[in-house]
Amino acid sequence: MSADPFEGIRACVFDAYGTLFDVHSAVGRHADRLPDAPAVSLLWRTKQLEYTWLRSLMGRYVDFWHITKDALAFALDTYQVSDAALSDDLMQAYLELSCYPEVPSVLNGLKDRGFRCAVLSNGSPEMLSSAVKNSGLDELFDAVISIDAIGIYKPDPRVYQMAVDQLGVSSSEIAFQSSNAWDAAGAAAFGFKVAWINRFGQQPERLGIVADAELKDLTALPELL
Ligand code: LAC
Repeated sequence: MSADPFEGIRACVFDAYGTLFDVHSAVGRHADRLPDAPAVSLLWRTKQLEYTWLRSLMGRYVDFWHITKDALAFALDTYQVSDAALSDDLMQAYLELSCYPEVPSVLNGLKDRGFRCAVLSNGSPEMLSSAVKNSGLDELFDAVISIDAIGIYKPDPRVYQMAVDQLGVSSSEIAFQSSNAWDAAGAAAFGFKVAWINRFGQQPERLGIVADAELKDLTALPELL
């Protein structure tokens, strides 16, 4: 076995929300209209993820747009905000999330070196194409893969298999990047080589499997490959 886990990588697959796109930028744009904007944003994100896991376990799939809206309603109710116009504006902002500053240059560099690049995300196809386009990244991805086609959320192994099938490379030839430690664990369990992008300085999850690398953002990814 090679000492370098990233040797032989042919494709780079990225989680979308929190990894390429700043999920807190939606609330950030309307922060002056909320009582405790950072707390609302955090609860919105937490509930959004919980609902993906719970709905997957219950076998009651609805797409990520629906889940995002339900999670926002929960968060706004919790903070006693009743403002339909604000809710609409926040959902609209979710379609236009900012990408993190290093993303375009890192992707350009990887493309120049011949790596295939893809997004693999819970996001609905419309949400993903909107976010990718809004940040001017559409030319840089060979595939933007949504779990909507199979109706089950991460970290179900069938999700990670979608990238293998669509990119036509084996799981061990894929470097997968996620800022979500549980997603990094799911991808590593599936067989990808994984870089956990620990943007938020979090503790590692105790899920019995660790990522092959930990970076604070995507800047140093090219040096791993
Ligand atoms: C995604 C979530 C997990 O983009 O961030 O799939």
